[in-house]
Amino acid sequence: MMTLTIVVQWLHVFLGIFWFGSSLYVDAILIPTLNRLPLKEQQKIGGLIGPRTSQVLVPVGLTVVALGFLRGTVFGPLRSLDAVFGTAYGVTWLIALLLAIGVILWGLLVLKPRAEALGNAKSPEAYGAIVKQLKVMTLVEITGFVAIFTCMILMRFGL
Ligand code: HEM
Repeated sequence: MMTLTIVVQWLHVFLGIFWFGSSLYVDAILIPTLNRLPLKEQQKIGGLIGPRTSQVLVPVGLTVVALGFLRGTVFGPLRSLDAVFGTAYGVTWLIALLLAIGVILWGLLVLKPRAEALGNAKSPEAYGAIVKQLKVMTLVEITGFVAIFTCMILMRFGL
């Protein structure tokens, strides 16, 4: 059981840093760099990066959530609803679970369609307006990630 718990935790942390780290890289480095290119080139590169990003990061995010679920329950102390709702650890775990589902849905239902709209923008002004919206939307996503990450640290200390 101990070995399996280590494997689950290893995969969870590895895929978690892949998921969170990729989002930070895209928001802090990739997009600001692409923004310096002419509109047509941005649309061309964005059209290639966008689908690939969802193709890779959606399964990664779902796996992180599934492993986090198992790490708290089958491989952790949460064996009843009382443990989930009645302990600090359980509540923190539940908050992380809900936040992570929220981050995935936010990405799929809000961010992705807006990012796809960039490809159809006809003028630099229209493009700039969508980029502005995306900046706020990605800030919401990063805030979610930071909150989830904080939950991970709290659980490490039993909270
Ligand atoms: C962005 C998403 C996530 C990242 C980056 C992440 C990262 C981590 C890290 C680094 C640890 C190790 C903490 C330590 O030992 O100090 C951890 C542990 C853990 N994570 Fe996550 N995690 C994420 C999402 C989730 C979600 C959604 C859940 C719940 C469904 C979850 C449940 C857990 C549990 C139960 C542990 C073990 C805590 C313990 O008892 O020490 N994680 N996670």
